[in-house]
Amino acid sequence: MIKSKIVLKKKPLKIYKNIHFFQDDDYYTDTFGLQWNEFIKTQIDNINHSNSYDRFFNETGLKNTQFRNKKVLEVGSGAGRFTNVLMKHTSAEVHSVDSSDSVFANLKNNIEYNKKRLNIYKATVYDLPFEEGQFDIVICFGVIQHTPNVKKTIDNLCKQVKPSGLIIVDFYPYNGFWTLISAKYILRPITKRLRYETVKSFYKKHIKKLIKIYYFFEKYKLNIFNRFIPIADISNTIPKNIGKELLEEMVLLDTIDIYTPKYDQPQKVKKIKSMIESNNFNILFAGKINYLNFTSTVVRGKKY
Ligand SMILES: C[S@@+](CC[C@H](N)C(=O)[O-])C[C@H]1O[C@@H](n2cnc3c(N)ncnc32)[C@H](O)[C@@H]1O
Repeated sequence: MIKSKIVLKKKPLKIYKNIHFFQDDDYYTDTFGLQWNEFIKTQIDNINHSNSYDRFFNETGLKNTQFRNKKVLEVGSGAGRFTNVLMKHTSAEVHSVDSSDSVFANLKNNIEYNKKRLNIYKATVYDLPFEEGQFDIVICFGVIQHTPNVKKTIDNLCKQVKPSGLIIVDFYPYNGFWTLISAKYILRPITKRLRYETVKSFYKKHIKKLIKIYYFFEKYKLNIFNRFIPIADISNTIPKNIGKELLEEMVLLDTIDIYTPKYDQPQKVKKIKSMIESNNFNILFAGKINYLNFTSTVVRGKKY
């Protein structure tokens, strides 16, 4: 076990290779466990792209030196793309939580840091195993919209932050009624009830054709129709110039990530901002951040 000053409020059910298990089940996040163990390396930065690095530092607005001597809690770590950035580019002590079997993917991707300054926990944001108020920085990227009770998720994240500490979250934005008029929200009531394997096999078979259709509409400036093509939004979510093979893999992953989760609730910036404010935080930033070909919706707060 790591010699960390973080105090746990309960004992784990078991510890395996330093992953602390506070639950055996994945509950509603089982598809994420399957997804991240299958597409284990797809989004991890490599020589082809630094997507996770760019997103992490643009969204946090922090420099790597600002993580020195800091304790970071990451909730919903998935395959550990941001855990990996924290390990490679900062010296923070990191505590990464996920409620699915993706904790095994995170362990594989960050094995060299495990037991040094990385701790991985299988636990839910609704029952975090830490005593409150211990972390300098709490980050939660790409998760909030996938939880059943967003207010409770935010409240629980806020409780983990020390006085004067930071919370930084990103999420799918709700930009009015139009947000829900797309293939994604029309088909999800069906696809979220299908087995992960069924959705995956369908897309493995058809992804190349769907990508071709997407680019056809884009070429002729008919992008509006791409809302109704049931694949990920390639132009705004996939890094540029990564080669055909990685592109297809990334689009396949992102598409499965759209259609299989049990919950997908885009959020109004105003709402997330006021949820964080009501937990005694001063809002440092709330809105959209543009970098490379991406736009992220981010709220950052500092605890009083
Ligand atoms: C879309 S993935 C994002 C993973 C990672 N943050 C990233 O951006 O690549 C959402 C992750 O949140 C996790 N998650 C969802 N609900 C959770 C909960 N209640 N507690 C902890 N993790 C949760 C899922 O298991 C999944 O790995």
